[in-house]
Amino acid sequence: MTKKQLDESVNYLKSKGFDAPEIGIVLGTGLGQLVDHIEEPIIAHYNHIPFFPLATVEFHTGKLIYGTISGKKVVVMQGRFHLYEGYDFSDVTYPIRVMHQLGIQKLFVSNAAGAINLSFHKGDIMLIEDHINLQGGSPLAFKNVSEFGDRFVDMMEPYDVPMRKKIEQIADRNDIRLQKGVYASVVGPQLETKAEYRMLKILGADAVGMSTVPEVIVANHLKLPVVAVSVLTDECDPDNLEPVDIQEIIAIAGQTEPKMIQLFTELIKSL
Ligand code: HPA
Repeated sequence: MTKKQLDESVNYLKSKGFDAPEIGIVLGTGLGQLVDHIEEPIIAHYNHIPFFPLATVEFHTGKLIYGTISGKKVVVMQGRFHLYEGYDFSDVTYPIRVMHQLGIQKLFVSNAAGAINLSFHKGDIMLIEDHINLQGGSPLAFKNVSEFGDRFVDMMEPYDVPMRKKIEQIADRNDIRLQKGVYASVVGPQLETKAEYRMLKILGADAVGMSTVPEVIVANHLKLPVVAVSVLTDECDPDNLEPVDIQEIIAIAGQTEPKMIQLFTELIKSL
């Protein structure tokens, strides 16, 4: 990644009308209905944006959508890039840097995740309070990182506290059961073994998934306030493990998404 490439990506999007978005939103696996709430949308397909990684996984439609939600200008990533598709850390976080350079001041991230904490259930939403990076690398481990920001980024409070408080209040007001906890990121794409689920629990994870952490690290690198939620799509009980069905994960994510949409749209209103 170079500054010149970023400039080209951003200039292309500006020429398409992506004008000073205030908020960036990343939609995870099975979470795409939020885009129906975007007014006056302008769509840029990932494979048309210069230097953007190409979308591969079939259930990701791969679009960057600009428009307004609740009167605020947003840019929404419908589909994200995963390490398990063969992208590197720089690829999976490139869109975050692009959205930042377009002007976003806040970032919302979502994902589908498995529940490690067995008091949580599929169909619950978990507000991520902290994370454990188990992906074996960092999006900040590159030679010229200091051209883009500090190398040694503080991660004491990676998820923005004021926005987290607002999400909790919104959930309260709307009777949405909101779990809170620690998200562990793995590379995937294979799901975890029983022994790995036991390990994740011992490590202090409440949920596990294959994304989000690199994007949040880069948001912190950019000093971009970020919040993230997991839609819990399966229960990872090592003593009663059932085979995971990716179609079921996508279906549960879709059924749960309206709650996430309510949290995000009201959070947008409140900013
Ligand atoms: N493990 C990893 N990623 C996931 C899971 C899981 O159990 N469920 C949804 N994404």
